[in-house]
Amino acid sequence: MQEKKVFYITTPIYYPSDNLHIGHAYTTVAADCMARFKRMQGYEVFYLTGTDEHGQKIEKTAREKGMEAIDYVDGIVKGIRQLWDTLLISNNDFIRTSEPRHKEVVQKVFQKLFDQGDIFLSQYEGWYCTPCETFFTERQLTDGKCPDCGRDVELLQEESYFFNMAKYAPRLLEHIDAHPDFIQPESRRNEIVNFIKSGLDDLCVSRTTFNWGIKVPFNEKHVIYVWVDALINYLSAIGYLADEEKFNHYWPANVHLMAKDIVRFHAIIWPALLMALDLPLPQKVCAHGWIMLEGGKMSKSKGNVVDPRILVEKYGVDAVRYYLVKELTFGQDGYYSEEMLVSRINSDLANDLGNLISRTVAMISRYFAGVIPAPAPATGVDESLIQTARQICQEAGEKLDKLDFAGYLISTLKLVSRANKYIDETEPWLLAKDEMNRERLATVMYNLAESIRIALILLSPTMPTLMARANRQLGIFNDISKVTWAEAGQWGLCPVGSQVKKEEALFPRIDLKNLEEAAVRPEIKAAAKPEPPAPAPAKGNDEFISIEDFARMDLRIAEVMACEKMAKADKLLILRLKVGDEERTVVSGIAKHYSPEALIGKKVVLLANLKPTKLRGVMSQGMILAASGDEELEVLMIEKDLPSGSQVK
Ligand code: MSP
Repeated sequence: MQEKKVFYITTPIYYPSDNLHIGHAYTTVAADCMARFKRMQGYEVFYLTGTDEHGQKIEKTAREKGMEAIDYVDGIVKGIRQLWDTLLISNNDFIRTSEPRHKEVVQKVFQKLFDQGDIFLSQYEGWYCTPCETFFTERQLTDGKCPDCGRDVELLQEESYFFNMAKYAPRLLEHIDAHPDFIQPESRRNEIVNFIKSGLDDLCVSRTTFNWGIKVPFNEKHVIYVWVDALINYLSAIGYLADEEKFNHYWPANVHLMAKDIVRFHAIIWPALLMALDLPLPQKVCAHGWIMLEGGKMSKSKGNVVDPRILVEKYGVDAVRYYLVKELTFGQDGYYSEEMLVSRINSDLANDLGNLISRTVAMISRYFAGVIPAPAPATGVDESLIQTARQICQEAGEKLDKLDFAGYLISTLKLVSRANKYIDETEPWLLAKDEMNRERLATVMYNLAESIRIALILLSPTMPTLMARANRQLGIFNDISKVTWAEAGQWGLCPVGSQVKKEEALFPRIDLKNLEEAAVRPEIKAAAKPEPPAPAPAKGNDEFISIEDFARMDLRIAEVMACEKMAKADKLLILRLKVGDEERTVVSGIAKHYSPEALIGKKVVLLANLKPTKLRGVMSQGMILAASGDEELEVLMIEKDLPSGSQVK
């Protein structure tokens, strides 16, 4: 028997200093999507998440609330577990750094590194940012503040243990060089390489001025640095130094997923520690961007957070997960707005997917008494649909393997659009008028049901309840728990003779008019002020601008993928644009001159580096160019088939 393939994926373990928000939910849902995808591919998946409970910041927060640290975190951790249940996170374990199984391993690791001379006692003098739990040297500070979060840092002078990190720098650089996929995306890898090359200091790995942490086993005055404690969770959860068989089964991890803020810890400190322990390095450290709100990165300490539980209550778990997985273009930041979430549910899920399913079910009910008919051999237009399905199935899997979550969903939705177009091309309502076309009509119905089957498989890692809900109408899956990813790649598995039945819409359209941003706490919206405008570019003289001034404008060809009117704003359209590999949302005041349909599929010119701004609640990421006279207006369009993302200059 062939040995089962193993896939070990982790999220960061989150600080239980406060309730989590949709930024944390993003990482956890994306990793869950990956875990479910790999399970459907037949892997034995170990998906780990958890909480990072020690450190000065948590000790301080608990003290401010008049509580013992453990009692405080117990409450928050309970909420975090419930949140993951609500979001249908399929983690295989949940590790808390306050658990004995973790503490023991951290102490053993510390002892081992001390015994072998990689950890030594010395004197620390430098700066510490408590919210980031990070040490900085004088030259690393920005204007005397934390270079990561901009807050005050405190001067520390204490006896500390140090980890001999500099020793591992050359080996680390070699590893990064030999494994181009180790740090993803490439921009982060370059950043890390430059950081290492600029010289690594030995890392301070213990503190003496607070208590809430794991004690250095041979010197109880010292608490182990919270990042060293935290990173070791990836080992302790799978039995390192406790259950050798389990550990060897899962280690090394395939993917450590996180946002860009903590990639340095995972791509420098973590591999150096692993090298010192003589353990293989994880395959990939992958850093996605941030979910931003007007006013900057969403973060607990800024208070501008969106509570995912409220969103799930309002829109359902599948829709919220879909929104999250699609929201961040690989490696880049994205802006959250509830209008965008709703507009995505309406356009992708209610219009495209929901309509495809409801129209197909309605037609099979009307023309074939609800029984999926057998197809005749495929003709040209059928072949094109089948071809698209095959290609997209492969593309979707490849994108997921590269952790390009948004790209995978964009690909999958192309199949849904293709199937909708197939209805327009084949015009079943005309075929139904003549009994002679019965066989052709049957083929069209079968092909639609089959396309839906494939799309449902591809979407199920993102939307875990979708397949079951759709199957109540379609009846095409015998046992949902056994459906594999490979089945999406095989055309023709939809069982002939299945009985379909019409039920209520899978994703009812949401009226944007009724939207209140209930998920953002009101005091928070007020606090999230927009940043001051960027300074205007300098002019060479009063009349001319230089070519350098012009070159500051990043003009790109963008393809309009979707477009709709903004509710309660008769001048505004919301456009969803594809710019190379990236997706952008742009709000444009052209609704009086163009219907949304007239723009879909067109190639327009986008000013891509215009500062994003919120227009009627929707974050607009750029501006499309148009020429305007007194009455008339014409959007600049590109006639030739130049790829989206091409520069306009
Ligand atoms: N405890 C450390 C991690 C230790 S891992 C060994 C920590 N915790 S955290 O609670 O601050 O979580 C940081 C992580 O939460 C980010 O890396 C990211 O995965 C997620 N996010 C938090 N805010 C986010 C956004 N606004 N957007 C996207 N992800 C966000 O750092």
